[in-house]
Amino acid sequence: MTSVVPTRLVGLPGSLRKGSFSRATLAGLRDSLPCRTSLELLSPELPLYNEDEDGNHAPLEVRQFRNAVAYSAGLIIVTPEYNHDARGP
Ligand SMILES: Cc1cc2nc3c(=O)[nH]c(=O)nc-3n(C[C@H](O)[C@H](O)[C@H](O)COP(=O)(O)O)c2cc1C
Repeated sequence: MTSVVPTRLVGLPGSLRKGSFSRATLAGLRDSLPCRTSLELLSPELPLYNEDEDGNHAPLEVRQFRNAVAYSAGLIIVTPEYNHDARGP
């Protein structure tokens, strides 16, 4: 019998607000995935990029985020549009 390897995905909502539709969309996707697939919703508190603190010297939260993505089968980003174009506020 062939064993099926579980698929681990990670999700990144492009909005920090509590009632975010982006986060709700990812949560809905997470809850509707088949049993051998998981989707972890990430909420990284990433600092602004600083080249002096890159590579192995990167802050812990940056390294944790990179590892979460690197050890996943895929990253799903759901993000709103924030550029005040004709359709937005
Ligand atoms: C500053 C700002 C700019 C926005 N610009 C747009 C836009 O250009 N186009 C659009 O469709 N919606 C725009 N919106 C609406 C957001 O995309 C909408 O509120 C969305 O639900 C926010 O995502 P969230 O629910 O995950 O927080 C804008 C909202 C804000 C606050």
